[in-house]
Amino acid sequence: MSNSDSFSVTLKENRRFEVPPAFAAQANVKAEERARLVEIGRKDPEGYWASVARELKWRKPFTRVLEWNAPFAKWFVDGRLNASENCLDRHLEKDGDKTAILWEGEPGGESVRWTYKELHARVVAQTAALRKLGLKKGDTVAIYMPLVPEGVVAMLACARGGFPHTVVFGGFSAESLKDRMHDAGAKAVLTADYGWRKGVKVALRDQVVKALTGGNPGATGGTSTVKHVLTLKRESVGGAGRAPAEALLGKIGTADEYDWYAVANTVEPSKRAVLGAAEEVEAEHPLYILYTSGTTGKPKGIVHSTGGYLAGVTRTTRDVFDLKPSDLYWCTADIGWVTGHSYVVYGPLSLGASVFLYEGAPTTPGADRFWDMIERHKITVLYTAPTAIRAFMKLGTEWPKKHDLSSLRLLGSVGEPINPEAWMWYRDVIGDGKCPIVDTYWQTETGAIVISPLPGAVATKPGSATLPLPGYDVDVLDKEGKSVPLGQGGRLVIRKPWPSMARTVHGDPERFKKTYFSEFKDGIYFTGDGARRDEDGYVWILGRVDDVLNVSGHRLGTMEIESSLVAHPKVAEAAVVGRPDELKGQAVVAFVSLKAEFAKALKESGGQDQAAAKALKDELRAHVAKEIGSFARPEDVRFADGLPKTRSGKIMRRLLRELATSGEVKGDTTTLEDLNVIAALKAGDEE
Ligand code: PRX
Repeated sequence: MSNSDSFSVTLKENRRFEVPPAFAAQANVKAEERARLVEIGRKDPEGYWASVARELKWRKPFTRVLEWNAPFAKWFVDGRLNASENCLDRHLEKDGDKTAILWEGEPGGESVRWTYKELHARVVAQTAALRKLGLKKGDTVAIYMPLVPEGVVAMLACARGGFPHTVVFGGFSAESLKDRMHDAGAKAVLTADYGWRKGVKVALRDQVVKALTGGNPGATGGTSTVKHVLTLKRESVGGAGRAPAEALLGKIGTADEYDWYAVANTVEPSKRAVLGAAEEVEAEHPLYILYTSGTTGKPKGIVHSTGGYLAGVTRTTRDVFDLKPSDLYWCTADIGWVTGHSYVVYGPLSLGASVFLYEGAPTTPGADRFWDMIERHKITVLYTAPTAIRAFMKLGTEWPKKHDLSSLRLLGSVGEPINPEAWMWYRDVIGDGKCPIVDTYWQTETGAIVISPLPGAVATKPGSATLPLPGYDVDVLDKEGKSVPLGQGGRLVIRKPWPSMARTVHGDPERFKKTYFSEFKDGIYFTGDGARRDEDGYVWILGRVDDVLNVSGHRLGTMEIESSLVAHPKVAEAAVVGRPDELKGQAVVAFVSLKAEFAKALKESGGQDQAAAKALKDELRAHVAKEIGSFARPEDVRFADGLPKTRSGKIMRRLLRELATSGEVKGDTTTLEDLNVIAALKAGDEE
């Protein structure tokens, strides 16, 4: 059954699970407290958020809460702080010997455990190294690493020095890495020779080399801003390192390459504390830029602040995951995505939690890898994506059943709508019916969770993210901007600014305005998602209403894939749409019309489903994987004589979506589809 099918089933069923009394009794936020916070958030949102922000450690406390020059917000503007100091230094006195990070590599038997003191020392050493190389507050640093503890060190070391980081997910291609480094103006890149995934070494440094030296120089204007590359040897993960003399490894293009651990050792121990000291930055100082797909071909560099962002993620981590000092918390996201930023690194560490990290694939070496780790380490909170849950369901209950999962007390879901079957399976098989499930709705742009149950206070319904958290003014509007009645679908918006909201699109404030604030007036933020509220006011996310796909919980812009396809020498035009997929949520389907000579050759070779066409389809799929990353590879490519267009020349996407979903055009084995014939039948439909 597809996602959307099961979704409508639940809307009918509307099952409801009350908060388990034993959980409610120990919850960080109980029902009365939630009611109080919601009320304060409604009456005095600025007062509410100010009280949230005061829980951080400020070097200079703020006196001004919000400057709102819509759509540009400044929160806590005259305050000064440092994010890494909040994540590390402030815990040292009480919790210095507490586990900060427990990590397992994919190959068996490899693990690292760092206390807060140890993590702090490593971050200080790395900040000192970066400063010694000449980096200064405001310089941007790219991070392209596997999920190893040094990845967390990289992020915090940047935060410590006041260097905004831009983490690029290790699955992105050299091309994508290059574009992002270039757009961000990165001065340095932190990488590793390789990481493990599904028993295979994934080479990362090779991609950095390609990004800095190879490929099409036009894409970077022939120049690179990157002056330094720090390479971690995968074999020295968790290690102390090499002699300073081995620090400089050579050149990559015009950049100097250094060994990760050796370069830190070039700083004399007596100078480390000073050179690695936390930079006091303004609340609005950019903590990071994270690229995300939108409706144009070019990914947007979403800019997050330091103070507002940290306030938002710290509070939501505490309340949504109900974290306690004794918890071992595991969010399975990679640090390359926003979930990794907010709920692997900044939220939990700012709260002083013990964080579990795992490098590799969920089914390596066996289908019970996750459950085995939960049992061995007694993990208490698990936060993962519906795609993973659906994949586990398919593998069968025997895998989790082999393990004692009784340490788990809370389960979370993120990234895409969770279908009720998966929700129920998660609850019954993984949570043994006793763990509350928090289905958390949010986005790269929101920085922190916006809609989610507070697990000790809000009853849950499988498939609904339930209610907005305190402090957020969430609404569902029609096209004219009027709130729609309960039960009716509309556009999901946030009416008032909130501290962890994106500040701008890097280098393109106009795009920020246009993308999020032009659909409605008065500074109302439009999420791009459709939603409806049921009779209890519970929010049901209906998915994107724009040309953005969600594949396995990863956001992909259709335009981005189209731009990559038309860059292929044989392609004249391309249109990409999503088709519901049982496992991934959505799958990418590309409709392609070839340049005349190639179209002719293909017709002569027998058409769509013959060997020559299949080879070309694979070539195009591989091309997209190379240009963007393998997770963007189209599931299906269909050749067409021409793409169906409206009279005004707009591609009829709705028609293509229908075709991709129904498979109606698949029967044709002799010619390339003339989609214009179908289009003619439906002419005017999408005008
Ligand atoms: O469509 C929504 C979906 O993921 C989009 C945000 O993607 P991204 O910025 O990559 O962030 C993913 C991690 C927060 C949203 O616009 N989405 C995210 N969480 C949920 C969701 N859809 C339904 N339910 C969710 N819990």
